[in-house]
Amino acid sequence: MKIWQCLAIAAMTAGLTVAAHAGDVSRGEELSGSCAACHGADGNSTNPEWPKIAGQHARYTYEQLRHFQSGERDDPLMAGEVADLSDQDMKDLAAYYAAQEPEIGSADPDLVDLGRDIYRGGIPDKGVAACIACHGGAGEGLAAAGFPALYGQHATYTARQLEKYRSGERATDPNRMMRGVAERMSDDEIRAVSSYIEGLYRQRD
Ligand code: HEC
Ligand code: HEC
Repeated sequence: MKIWQCLAIAAMTAGLTVAAHAGDVSRGEELSGSCAACHGADGNSTNPEWPKIAGQHARYTYEQLRHFQSGERDDPLMAGEVADLSDQDMKDLAAYYAAQEPEIGSADPDLVDLGRDIYRGGIPDKGVAACIACHGGAGEGLAAAGFPALYGQHATYTARQLEKYRSGERATDPNRMMRGVAERMSDDEIRAVSSYIEGLYRQRD
């Protein structure tokens, strides 16, 4: 799928999602106690296998919680956590984490050049689209389209997700947007772009 097609779909769905994803930040904070053990009190996990969820768009977080609950995204640690959450609980948790400030890591200097090239330019010989087109120059994603923020994410977690898209184990991406990208990437390319992403940071306004 071409980028302009993604953006057209994004624009069509944007109007609907704003109203549908209102959550209550303070109620989300109350519910977040059981999540803190793995994701940190403010959504900045310290274990590189567990994702940082601070500063993530509420719509994306909400959708992932629903995927864990339905089993479409299968993870033994998350399945039990979401089993008893209501739809409103998931919206409130998503709103709480969206309001938290993400902590940024740093890229491995040996991998940063290849990582930056892939992130900004894709891999033209293999038809791998540039990550920047959907995830933004600073890794900020695009909230209205459901494109997640990636900035500062642990490289270990990111690489694992790219491997899961590559093998098809994770198939939550509409229109195979991520499977189409990851399928064509080698282990070294995944490692490099994941490291680069860990060093990306949001522009402060
Ligand atoms: C026992 C550890 C643990 C606990 C407790 C936990 N999580 Fe997770 N969480 C994980 C792991 C591991 C993953 C990555 C799963 C994968 O690889 O797909 C994850 C993934 C996620 C994701 C997906 C992030 C992304 O970027 O796609 C969200 C959102 C999330 N957790 C929210 C929560 C919330 C909300 C709670 C509390 C209700 C919670 N988690 C409790 C371990 C945990
Ligand atoms: C056409 C748009 C598009 C392009 C290009 C794209 N992505 Fe994505 N990406 C998405 C969407 C949409 C999702 C959420 C899919 C889902 O819900 O599973 C996503 C999810 C991800 C995730 C999972 C995030 C998480 O927190 O679990 C990672 C990692 C990721 N993309 C990395 C990349 C990298 C690296 C590239 C470039 C090599 C890239 N993406 C190119 C649209 C795109």
